[in-house]
Amino acid sequence: MSHTYDFVVAANRLPVDRVTGEEGNEGWRRSPGGLVTAMDAVMRGRDGAWVGWAGDPGEAPAPFDDAGMQLHPVPLSEQEIADYYEGHSNDTLWPVYHDVIITPTFKRSWRGAYRAVNKRFAQACADIAAEGATVWVHDYQLQLVPEMLRELRPDLRIGWFNHIPFPAVELFAQLPGREEILEGLLGADFLGFQRTEDAGNFLRAVRQYLDLDVTGDVVDLGERQVRAAAVPISIDVEGLREIVESDSVQARAREIREQLGNPEKILLGVDRLDYTKGIRHRLKAFGELLADERLDPSKHKLIQVATPSRERVKAYMDLRDQIELTVGRINGDFSSIGATALTYLHRSFDREEMAAMFAAADIMLVTPLRDGMNLVAKEYVTCCADDGALVLSEFAGAATELSDAYLCNPHDIAGLKQQIMKAVDAPAPQRRQRMDSMRALVSENSVQQWAKNYLASLEAAPKAPSTQAAS
Ligand code: ADP
Ligand code: G6P
Repeated sequence: MSHTYDFVVAANRLPVDRVTGEEGNEGWRRSPGGLVTAMDAVMRGRDGAWVGWAGDPGEAPAPFDDAGMQLHPVPLSEQEIADYYEGHSNDTLWPVYHDVIITPTFKRSWRGAYRAVNKRFAQACADIAAEGATVWVHDYQLQLVPEMLRELRPDLRIGWFNHIPFPAVELFAQLPGREEILEGLLGADFLGFQRTEDAGNFLRAVRQYLDLDVTGDVVDLGERQVRAAAVPISIDVEGLREIVESDSVQARAREIREQLGNPEKILLGVDRLDYTKGIRHRLKAFGELLADERLDPSKHKLIQVATPSRERVKAYMDLRDQIELTVGRINGDFSSIGATALTYLHRSFDREEMAAMFAAADIMLVTPLRDGMNLVAKEYVTCCADDGALVLSEFAGAATELSDAYLCNPHDIAGLKQQIMKAVDAPAPQRRQRMDSMRALVSENSVQQWAKNYLASLEAAPKAPSTQAAS
């Protein structure tokens, strides 16, 4: 029998993507997104395996070791990438779970692929989990895995954590196959969500569509119970602090300021290029503030980092076109030779460069229309100068904890402009005081602490009769 593990993580993506260079040479590069940032930090230095997709079509590479972590690639065909990943996961579930910001596409064939790929993930976990092991399943791409895995391996402790919001029942109601998803999730022993509201939405959906008894945060399935509660995710505070406090990153932060002409204020946005992130609303507000002459393009510079994401999904292609058009317009209207009002960067950077940007920025703009947590907000708070300021959307999960930010409703452009100006004009002591309290909050709940809390809840969940008999 092949090697088995007491702790297994399953997520759609591995922490690294396989990339093929122009000359056919293969390499690995860090995968995008908050899930990977968080779970990579949790898994390093811990004995365990990570089951996930290597990011390209066709045969999966053999399992391999990545800095002590055992990676177990799951293959996806071209068709499955189109139907399971780009289709059902990112063109059906993603928009439904993010307040239907765009109209979701519903396709029956996509659901079949979602089921088949979830089955493959469940089997891959079952194959490598030791007797009585803990398997921690992640996110909306794998919602059927808990039930499928329990059927294969009733001896396991199964947890699931949702990195994104869980929608209100009125929106969840639209989803063909909604009962199947709820039943899939209820295969877990413990379900974790970013906010209490998300767990509440899930419990309401269970009551409404499965007609099960729910008492407090516990669903009664008769033979066993499943708890659903909030465990808000965080970042690797110590690791990031170490990076940002290094001489080279501090020097790079100064260099960034110099390269922008030492402006009075640097504003910064860092997002995957996703319609949930409110990038269009932010650019509109910035453009109008320049036009109103409340911001001065020679004194106030915006850097917008937009990480390429899901580039074959139409909504993402359209969004890129709209954003790049807006960037061009703003720069056409307000830049001068050698002095660009808005620096737009459509690519990935290493952690040092990201930390340097956070350290260089006076004002961070995090304005999603809906976001599970938004780790960028917490990263900025950890890296910025003592008098940095955070403008944060009420619709980001992070707003529950970071209530000392300059909170905004990004749909209300006038209100958003007002909050940006409040952050720009705030006296340094006020900014310092707000930042101090947010920093204390973020450092109290590192991602390592989050994982500990989550796993303690999973461990404390009532054992199913079959696992009790086995132990
Ligand atoms: P999401 O998971 O939706 O992408 P989060 O804000 O929760 O959003 O997490 C994004 C993560 O990706 C953060 O850790 C952030 O630092 C990182 N990131 C964002 N843009 C880039 C980029 N261009 N290059 C490298 N890392 C990035
Ligand atoms: C969000 C999701 C993750 C996903 C990431 C990047 O953080 O919660 O599950 O991995 O975005 O998206 P991608 O589609 O590139 O994996």
